[in-house]
Amino acid sequence: MTQPQTWSQRFESALHPAIALFNASINFDIELIEYDLTGSQAHAKMLAHTGIISAEEGEQLVSGLEQIRQEYRQGKFQPGVDAEDVHFAVERRLTEIVGDVGKKLHTARSRNDQVGTDTRLYLRDQIQQIRNYLREFQRVLLDIAEQNVETLIPGYTHLQRAQPLSLAHHLLAYFEMTQRDWERLGDVSRRVNISPLGCGALAGTTFPIDRHYTAQLLNFDSVYANSLDGVSDRDFAIEFLCAASLIMVHLSRLSEEIILWASEEFRFITLKDSCATGSSIMPQKKNPDVPELVRGKTGRVFGHLQAMLVIMKGLPLAYNKDLQEDKEGLFDSVNTVKACLEAMTILLREGLEFRTQRLGEAVAEDFSNATDVADYLAARGVPFREAYNLVGKVVKSSIAAGKLLKDLTLDEWQQIHPTFAADIYEAIAPRTVVSARNSYGGTGFAQVHKALVTARNQIKSEV
Ligand code: ARG
Repeated sequence: MTQPQTWSQRFESALHPAIALFNASINFDIELIEYDLTGSQAHAKMLAHTGIISAEEGEQLVSGLEQIRQEYRQGKFQPGVDAEDVHFAVERRLTEIVGDVGKKLHTARSRNDQVGTDTRLYLRDQIQQIRNYLREFQRVLLDIAEQNVETLIPGYTHLQRAQPLSLAHHLLAYFEMTQRDWERLGDVSRRVNISPLGCGALAGTTFPIDRHYTAQLLNFDSVYANSLDGVSDRDFAIEFLCAASLIMVHLSRLSEEIILWASEEFRFITLKDSCATGSSIMPQKKNPDVPELVRGKTGRVFGHLQAMLVIMKGLPLAYNKDLQEDKEGLFDSVNTVKACLEAMTILLREGLEFRTQRLGEAVAEDFSNATDVADYLAARGVPFREAYNLVGKVVKSSIAAGKLLKDLTLDEWQQIHPTFAADIYEAIAPRTVVSARNSYGGTGFAQVHKALVTARNQIKSEV
């Protein structure tokens, strides 16, 4: 049977059923229930601690809320739409369990500071989980990188062959991106972890509450200094959505590379059956659905960020119901980022294999050692621009002759410039080309080995 709304006494008639449904958030904010219960338990303890209610009443409230937690976990507490939202649903059930004392829980509190508290507790937890997913992803990246320091892969700019790379160096670029993601989430956490509890509806409360006490019980670092700001701030959600969007940017760039690498045109990787799918009509197909989905899902996270920015823009202080719209996009972003990180981790760990022989051939069959010919001359005193122009001409004539740089005879080299000696062949071999880029942060093997050690230490020291 539908129960009257908590606030129905002030009203003449009941809500239109369609409007009740339109207004309700219970279908999605039930996700917050565990945080709502924890927040309410802290509030109840504070009410008792400050003498606003008796110690016994405080205990009754705390244990009644704990019972709801158990009921929820056992699937026995499933509030319907008539509860409006998770906060009313809990309060109503609490009063059924503990009797009239349940009606004291909402003393000195509003759903406005309550929902802000719940959302922050939720996000704080989720951020920690996402950081753990990021770490798992990084571990797999490092495992593959460590095996492939001396595996060479063409490096591109403008998607044109540029200079060959150590495959580990390429993968470590993604380590760096996700390391920034990990740090960024830690930074966002600092602004998520501020307590709005006790800001009341907007102006604070007439009761002698202790906001620092609840903040401490809930492990918040501090409390909002201004009650209006406390109930209407969603900057923390926007910051999180920015961080989530950047994670998706990084995952979708890697996805795009994997999709290209798996194509017949590149043939740099083979997709394993456990992470690839077939076509309904073309029997030969093996599709990279995982990275495609990750690339596609990036759009929805960006969309949620945009939606949240637009919800906040021009919103007058303090709480407005618009703010109820903060939740679904936030939850969906959290779930999407977690799912994508997990899928990409599995894909890297067991879903693909680098075709090292093919990669070795790829780096030997192009002009990506041309810079090294110019560097060879420049290192021997020829001004770089002059050397560059000279090599440009060599590339042009070699293409016309259907040759690569390694095919030129020593005679031909010396006609181009007398400085060339027999060591030019060694200097332009792909392995030398890569290992010689030993500048700090470069792809030279020695640099990559150092970078791997640093990366391992980074993920060890920060848990
Ligand atoms: N369900 C509401 C939300 O998510 C809770 C806060 C309601 N506050 C109010 N003043 N109507 O935003």
